[in-house]
Amino acid sequence: MITIKGRLGYSYSLKKTANLFSIENNILLEIAKKQPKRRFFILIDKQVHRIYGEKIRNYFYKNEIKIKLYVMEGGDHSKNQQSYLDVFKELCLFDPLRKDEPLLAIGGGVITDLGGFVASTYRRGIPHIKIPTTLMGYVDASVGIKTGINFGPYKNRMGSFTIPEGIILDKDFLRTLDERNIISGIGEIIKLAVILDPILFELLETGNKILIENKFQNQLGEVILDRAIEKMVDELSGNLYETILKRKVDFGHTFSLILESTSNYEMTHGEAVALDILYSCCISYLRGLLKERDLERIVSLYQNLNIPTWSDYLNSKHLWTSVKERIMHRNGKQLIPIPVGIGRCKFINDLSQKEIQPAIDLLKEISLSFVS
Ligand SMILES: NC(=O)c1ccc[n+]([C@@H]2O[C@H](COP(=O)([O-])OP(=O)(O)OC[C@H]3O[C@@H](n4cnc5c(N)ncnc54)[C@H](O)[C@@H]3O)[C@@H](O)[C@H]2O)c1
Repeated sequence: MITIKGRLGYSYSLKKTANLFSIENNILLEIAKKQPKRRFFILIDKQVHRIYGEKIRNYFYKNEIKIKLYVMEGGDHSKNQQSYLDVFKELCLFDPLRKDEPLLAIGGGVITDLGGFVASTYRRGIPHIKIPTTLMGYVDASVGIKTGINFGPYKNRMGSFTIPEGIILDKDFLRTLDERNIISGIGEIIKLAVILDPILFELLETGNKILIENKFQNQLGEVILDRAIEKMVDELSGNLYETILKRKVDFGHTFSLILESTSNYEMTHGEAVALDILYSCCISYLRGLLKERDLERIVSLYQNLNIPTWSDYLNSKHLWTSVKERIMHRNGKQLIPIPVGIGRCKFINDLSQKEIQPAIDLLKEISLSFVS
């Protein structure tokens, strides 16, 4: 179990388990036993419900816990005001006790972001527990305290910082993820590796395609997952509410938001982050800050893991618009993290519009070299 302690005295924990919904697993049973009504409102991803629904119902039935399952489609097109209102309405009908009946959010980052946001606004805040079922959720989206939904074209514009009651990590869920969503989650692991952890980078290099093939279920996969979470926790814990805007974990999140939204969320969050990472490496290389050898290692990792390196949404107008948006988000400064070696970074505040196109050209050249 990892406990995250914030500076203001609050804390929450990430609990690792296996086979969460086998009858022998008593994590959720113990939580239910503390409640007068032994019941949960559960927001669950549609795919997860399709694959695990029967097992989940059986778990609660056998343990004599009442549940209301609300099934919602994953994908960012679901992370909107209508979904928020739909879940909210169902929650009103269920009417949970304010302190003792946490909402369970079971799914990828979309479901945990949405569930957390609904919980944070219902009667000004009821507890919630995140149970991530995607790689993205496991190593990133569930770890921090950000909740939210998209607002029209604005990614994550509506949301809150809300401490969850807990996070339950069960990597067995990753077994049923498709390759695209495994690769998408790897984007966030590469982010940590490139910007702050050369050992994590080496582990990814060692793991290579096998990580994707066996969906992080082997020993190396577990080591990588644990290390990624540990690094994420280290980065977040002193700055949970983002009072400090200079955040290494914002690497990969300068240009990615506009890529996701202009693609109408056809591009996944992780794919956009991975493109942003490589594009930021190109900027750093062209500035003479990142050595050719390091760029080559990063490019090879992308190639070996089959991570997309190009999108036609990469154009200078979009990317510069994204920089301007990030300046608002980062309170008037660019604060763009870029790598200056594997595992090392610096923040720049002087990216000029003139640098945008040459870095796109370099990325295009790199991606074309993949084909040959
Ligand atoms: N709050 C944060 O700090 C934070 C951090 C990173 C990302 N996010 C958010 O997370 C979202 C992306 O998360 P995501 O990539 O998990 O997307 P997602 O929640 O849309 O899930 C991706 C797909 O995987 C399917 N799925 C989920 N679990 C599955 C399983 N076990 N087996 C088979 N299929 C499964 C879903 O149905 C969906 O189609 C974005 O909205 C992003 O903004 C939030």
